[in-house]
Amino acid sequence: MAKVLSGAGLRGQVAGKTSLSTVGKTGSGLTYCGYDVKDLAENTCFEEVAYLIFNGDLPNQGELNDYKAKLKGLRGLPAALKTVLEQIPKDAHPMDVMRTGCSMLGNLEMESDFSQQQEKTDRLLAAFPSIICYWYRFSHDGVRIETETDDDSVGAHFLHMLHDKKPSELHSRVMDVSLILYAEHEFNASTFTARVCASTLSDMHSCITGAIGTLRGPLHGGANEAAMELIEGLNSVEHAEETIMGMLERKDKIMGFGHAIYSESDPRNGIIKEWSEKLAADVGDKRLYPVSVRCEEVMWREKKLFCNADFFHASAYNFMNIPTKLFTPIFVCSRLTGWAAHVMEQRSDNRIIRPSAEYVGVEPRTVTAISER
Ligand SMILES: CC(C)(COP(=O)(O)OP(=O)(O)OC[C@H]1O[C@@H](n2cnc3c(N)ncnc32)[C@H](O)[C@@H]1OP(=O)(O)O)[C@@H](O)C(=O)NCCC(=O)NCCS
Repeated sequence: MAKVLSGAGLRGQVAGKTSLSTVGKTGSGLTYCGYDVKDLAENTCFEEVAYLIFNGDLPNQGELNDYKAKLKGLRGLPAALKTVLEQIPKDAHPMDVMRTGCSMLGNLEMESDFSQQQEKTDRLLAAFPSIICYWYRFSHDGVRIETETDDDSVGAHFLHMLHDKKPSELHSRVMDVSLILYAEHEFNASTFTARVCASTLSDMHSCITGAIGTLRGPLHGGANEAAMELIEGLNSVEHAEETIMGMLERKDKIMGFGHAIYSESDPRNGIIKEWSEKLAADVGDKRLYPVSVRCEEVMWREKKLFCNADFFHASAYNFMNIPTKLFTPIFVCSRLTGWAAHVMEQRSDNRIIRPSAEYVGVEPRTVTAISER
């Protein structure tokens, strides 16, 4: 008889092999292809990290220049995709826009052969910021934006389209760091979804579309938006203290805290927190950053629960004037790298992922004629 796994949610179960990242094991707690995420966040840009995740090694200057130039050339959206984006209402969930955008691109530029996997991935990496900003600016401001900007990076491209002007050095750098921090995280729920889909030998767009749907939930990617909704309602550190204490008493889940694998801290938190503090100083914030710090202190003092990557991302994004509803789509623009790399890794040594279930239903029985039920 097959062994029944103990522990809900498959906690602690090894479900496959990867050479892409380690979570909660070495260094600060998160490594991509052997590099500590802190080292990468301090010394590289997002495109270098994407290159690393896809190729296993960091690029040299020439390789990085070529890769950036390649991505720059892939930012334009086909007319049919723009038409679809223009049909999506203003009040749609932006993650649904990402899902539809990815799926539609799959219809227009199908991966017909796995030899195209890197090419299709690069296209998605370049086009995702265009997709979300094109829809957002069309549905909210009534403008059809030009998505082919000459910005040097994915992060700057996103901010430029959103705000209709080139971002500052500081904002470009924070976007870079943010995209690096979200790029890859082993067998999390959305990545595992992508791998399951890949294991059926499905196409890249299907794998990524499935992963977007999984990331959408508030227990996964949606937490940064939920954290923003919490902190924007807090008008002082005292109010933050009171609110968190009340939520804990009511046993509410506080988004942006806790983690399925890390037990004492999330290595990404300290990094984005530092940048949030710099942005707070830059905009002269006297509220969002201090209330966020107080929430962190109360959660640790009362429950030994720590901020995950999402909590200080909320204030950092807000200081850069990014609308809250676009927080999770930024996560998509970054995590696409991890998802696609896992799809490629799964394909390179594939067996269909098909676990079993422990049956807990009724005993075997026979059908009673419908007239007698
Ligand atoms: C990330 C998360 C889903 C991990 O879930 P998990 O591994 O199942 O952890 P658990 O829910 O078993 O946590 C253990 C205990 O801490 C509590 N807890 C965990 N995270 C909490 C949070 N954010 N707020 C309040 N309590 C929390 C649980 O309720 C549980 O308490 P119990 O033992 O009394 O039932 C969970 O911490 C969570 O929901 N966090 C908020 C959402 C979030 O920020 N997600 C982004 C993750 S990067």
